[in-house]
Parts: sequence; structure tokens; C-alpha cells
Amino acid sequence: MGKVLIKNISQLVTYDSKIKDMRVFDHVELLIESDTVIEIGRALFCEDCLVVDAGHRLVTPGFVDPHTHPVFYSTREDEFEMRVLGISYMEIARRGGGILNSAKKLQMADYNDLKERVKKRLLNFLRFGVTTVEAKSGYGLDTDAEIKSLRMLKELNSELDIEIKPTFLGAHEYPLEFRNNHAGYIGKILKEMLPVVAKEGLAEYCDVFCEEGVFSLDESRTILQAAKELGLGLRIHAGEFKSIGGAKLAAELGARSADHLVYVTDDEIEAMRKRGVVAVLLPATTFFLGSDRYAPAKKMMEMGVEVALSTDFNPGSSFTQSMQFVITLACIKMGMGILEALQAATYNSAKSLGIEDRLGSIEKGKQADFIIWKIDNYQSIPYYLADNSVWKVFKNGKLVCENSF
Ligand code: NIG
Ligand code: FE
Repeated sequence: MGKVLIKNISQLVTYDSKIKDMRVFDHVELLIESDTVIEIGRALFCEDCLVVDAGHRLVTPGFVDPHTHPVFYSTREDEFEMRVLGISYMEIARRGGGILNSAKKLQMADYNDLKERVKKRLLNFLRFGVTTVEAKSGYGLDTDAEIKSLRMLKELNSELDIEIKPTFLGAHEYPLEFRNNHAGYIGKILKEMLPVVAKEGLAEYCDVFCEEGVFSLDESRTILQAAKELGLGLRIHAGEFKSIGGAKLAAELGARSADHLVYVTDDEIEAMRKRGVVAVLLPATTFFLGSDRYAPAKKMMEMGVEVALSTDFNPGSSFTQSMQFVITLACIKMGMGILEALQAATYNSAKSLGIEDRLGSIEKGKQADFIIWKIDNYQSIPYYLADNSVWKVFKNGKLVCENSF
């Protein structure tokens, strides 16, 4: 592929590593060669270039969504109705709904049928401007179904334009038959699942749902420690409903990220800062669960922790694929500035996946993953509430998705 010149950009907004902050360029052009950003500037000269007219619109990096659960068979709107009627998420889970409900359906699903459904969801992420997505297993909850989920993600990563960063989440919930035999299920994870995941290179990260009534702190430590010894990076679901020390464990083990963090202590925030653990915040989950208690984003930022944003897309607690909506919530419910939220949804989320040298910003030498928007300024991203303002999506310098106006 040759050179591409994106002309007529009203605003180009990106994280800039030189100033370690967000930067707003007005009326610039963007030059790309094959899959790489070559230059941002005015009146750029380019011979034999393919010219793309941005139509006086906004350009930003593609979103990096660092926490999603797209490998499920069917949606759970019946549980949503129960929640609307006042039954809590944890109560629904105790009654056999929730993650166990999804696991039963995934285990029975035909491979190709499931794959078609997951594929549709991943393509939908592109429509919302997500060019890289972290995707977890975790609705298998037995060796075959967990491995099947991860192999599927590997196949889809090579078949689709969106880039998938796979995470093994066998420790998402205890299967019914192991409710009173936690050691038995952990043994399966350690002896059956993790060795295959590591040997076949099926996941880059291992995650655990560390929460009261799910995986305890010690159980989470055992699993994450074993994953670390096999060379996997670590992430953790911590403090979604209570603080039981998961964020501190993330710091202790050197995890890349601790996610949710609605309930997090000052000590934990300080431990995360010292160890450079990125806080991945999921305000759409708080919203979708009907809670008013959001993660203390500003406090974490003030204490020196880097904050990333994610959809937490899943059929139970957050059925959205819109990072735009997440940015709106981050601004309104967590008090983040628009540029702070944009950085959290691009550069910082790339950092939470260890890929910020290549992705998450539009800078010379970086991969050309970017969005041309229907809007012409970055303030409009959260302002156009619950809309999809994404126009054209480029991955590796190539147009991979175009929404109609
Ligand atoms: O991140 N908390 C655990 N996992 C998901 C919910 C999964 C589900 O309900 O299916 C979350 O919120
Ligand atoms: Fe999650």
C-alpha cells in the first residue's frame, strides 16, 4: 500500500508523547505510508498519494477498549427486567442466573453458530470506532468451553480487521458443581486450563473476578500467581461491589490493570501508583446496574494512578459497545474532563494492555489506527448523548468501516 493523505481535518486530537498530554491540532493534514503515521502538518506535499477528504471533520485515534466479554451465546434481557423490578445483580447470580446462565448456553452452543454471533459483535465494535479490543473468555467455565472460546478469538483475530487482545478468565464464577469445592475448580484451572492456554499461546492475559462470594483474595492470588509463572500478563476484576483487597493484589503481583474499582481504599490506590497498575474504569457498568456510586476517577488521577476507560461489554452488567457513551458517563458521573476521558479511552487504555508504543495515539511512527468523525470538534463526542458519531474507521492505514451519515 502506498501513501495516503487525509486532508481537510477540522481538528486532530491525540495524546502526544513529547508533551505527555493531549494535543489539539487545528486544520491539519495527516500523512500515512502503508500502515504507519508519517506526519501531521499543514499543506503537506505528497506525490502519487491517495487523497482522502475528511470533509472538515474531527480525527482522533481509534478507541482501544481494554475490558470486554464478547464470547457469549445469548443476551440476558430477562435478567435486565428482573433488575428493573428491583432484584439485584448478585441476587440474580445466586439464583443461577448471571454468569452461570451464560455458561450453560455457551457450553451447549454449536461452534459455528457461536462464532457468527461473536463475529457480529466484534464488527459492531468497529462501527463504534474501536480498533483494538481486549476480549475475555469466562463464559465457558469448563476446560473445553474455555479453550473453545479462546481458540475462537484467535481465529477471529486473524479473520477480522479489528485487533483482539485475548484474556483467559476461567475464574469468572464457580460452576454449580464446584460451589462447595472451590479447590476442585481451582485445580482444574491450574492443571487443565492454564497449561493449554500457555502452551498454545491462546491468551496474553489472565484475569480473575475477585469479589466477595466469587473468588476470594487468596484464591485469586493462587490463580494469578500460577498464570504469571507461565508468562501471562495479569488483570483483575476488583472492587465492583465491595473492596476485598483485589487492587492491592494487583499491585503485589505487578498486574497491568485493576478493573472496576468502585470500592477501592486509599492504601490500594497508593499501592497501584507505586507499581504502575493502570485503573480500568467501567462507568457504563455502574450505570447499567442502576447504581449511583461511580469509581473515584479524579481521586485516583490526583493520587498519580493512570486511568483508562472501557465498556465492559457483556450480557449481564453492561450491554453497550459504545466508548462514546462511556466518555459521556466519565465526564458527567466521574467528573473527568473531555480530553482526560479521551486520553483514557485511547492512550491509557492501550497502556493498560502494554501496547501504547504502537497504538492509542496518532504520532509519527505509530500504527495508523484512527477515526474520521461526523462531528468537527472533540467536545461533541460526549455531547451527542448515546449517539454514534463515528464516520470512517481506519485500521493499519486502511479504511475498514464506514457508517452512513
Ligand atoms: O465485569 N463482573 C464480572 N463480569 C462482568 C459481568 C458478567 C456477566 O454478568 O455476565 C463484569 O461486570
Ligand atoms: Fe468485566
